[in-house]
Amino acid sequence: MRLLNCDSVTSSRKANKTTHLPLLLANIGQLLTLQSSSGRPGPRRGSDLKELGVIEGGAVLCLGGKIVSVGKTKDALRDPWVKTKRKKILEIDCAGQVVLPGFVDSHTHPVFMSPRLVDFEKRIEGASYEEIAAAGGGIRSSLEGVRKAGKRDLAEKVLALLREMADLGTTTVEAKSGYGLTLESEMKSLEAIRDAASHWPGTVVPTLLGAHVVPGEFREHPEKYVEIVCREMIPRAAKRKLARFVDVFCDHGAFNAEQTEKIFQAAVENGLNVRGHMCQLTETVLKPFLRFEPASFDHMDHVNDADIAELARRDTIATLVPGANYFLGLKEYPPARSFIDAGVPVALATDYNPGTSPTLSMPMAMSLACTQMKMSPAEAIAAATINGAWALRVAERKGSIEAGKDADLTLFAVDDHREIPYWFGGSHCGLTVLNGVVWRNLKRGGFVGDRDPAPRG
Ligand code: NIG
Ligand code: FE
Repeated sequence: MRLLNCDSVTSSRKANKTTHLPLLLANIGQLLTLQSSSGRPGPRRGSDLKELGVIEGGAVLCLGGKIVSVGKTKDALRDPWVKTKRKKILEIDCAGQVVLPGFVDSHTHPVFMSPRLVDFEKRIEGASYEEIAAAGGGIRSSLEGVRKAGKRDLAEKVLALLREMADLGTTTVEAKSGYGLTLESEMKSLEAIRDAASHWPGTVVPTLLGAHVVPGEFREHPEKYVEIVCREMIPRAAKRKLARFVDVFCDHGAFNAEQTEKIFQAAVENGLNVRGHMCQLTETVLKPFLRFEPASFDHMDHVNDADIAELARRDTIATLVPGANYFLGLKEYPPARSFIDAGVPVALATDYNPGTSPTLSMPMAMSLACTQMKMSPAEAIAAATINGAWALRVAERKGSIEAGKDADLTLFAVDDHREIPYWFGGSHCGLTVLNGVVWRNLKRGGFVGDRDPAPRG
């Protein structure tokens, strides 16, 4: 058996040579498969959300970027194929550690140039998100940087973020445009996402967010801007296959319900799926949008009971992004318990962006979900993996550890899965596997100590 030499894996931060070697993660302390025992199809809801499908002493065998078998280590080692190929298998001893599906971060805004530090300070002094935006800060203040930037600079920034996400256990990322807000700069942003994704072994799902806010030059004529989104941006992004989804920030100060419906209609006519920033600042009636079969409604701080009941009957995911509430210093968080207890499928995401949630850490989002929204650690893990995959419509390939799915896994150097949201503000992620590529978190050197996923004995 070829044991993993961690130094050779860590020596390159790019997709490395180990891609095509068969990979066996063995002796896993807790393997969270996220397989559902209920067998109910569709996203996890209600009590199914906390089912992690734990195997103690588990093993996962991956080949050609796919998971080929999942079970107990003793059974894996008895497998005739493993026995004959053992010398060629890259084996990682995961004793005393937790392995789970790579996180699916189903809501990020990674294409921007600079942090918004003045907004940060103003908010500390007491200004609200809307007041800062009205005074010239907010989303509009990020536009100039992106409009002036070269595509290569944007792509390099995005790639650096994707690498950091892999360090934190994320293997699938939704990435939105939305800080250019001209036809040219939105396409440039989507191209930067595509270029960065081609240098990263994980999976990136691109979203056009041309309807983030009405840019200043259209302030007096928002309808003209909506026309540009519908007639120019959406058809161009669809034709060039630069986006899978169209998103709209539907709220006070951004786009109203009528404009949002128009944009969703254009998306569907151009063969793109829809998702929405909904009910972040104010309540919006969601029912009229359901005819577009949105993959996800995100934020969801202010939702009425009738819509909660309606969503419980659908597969549209309520994607909660508590990092935004934390960073804006809000006292209230989205009502996760009301959603889960009513049967609404819930996902968690970082909402990485320069204005409301500058974090790439899914474990941080999960920790906030537990402490501020009273989700259990198990619910937070399912919301960050399998339901994130449903929110991106990739659940047939992602989000759980099952034979036939993509080899997207992450390893945490902890004994118990509840420690993942427990240890907040740092990272215990030691290793990530993205489509079969082994990615070692360099920053953890020396910290993993005797839990290092290196061969032992
Ligand atoms: O998800 N709400 C709209 N969009 C982002 C914020 C973007 C920004 O402030 O730059 C969000 O919170
Ligand atoms: Fe967002």
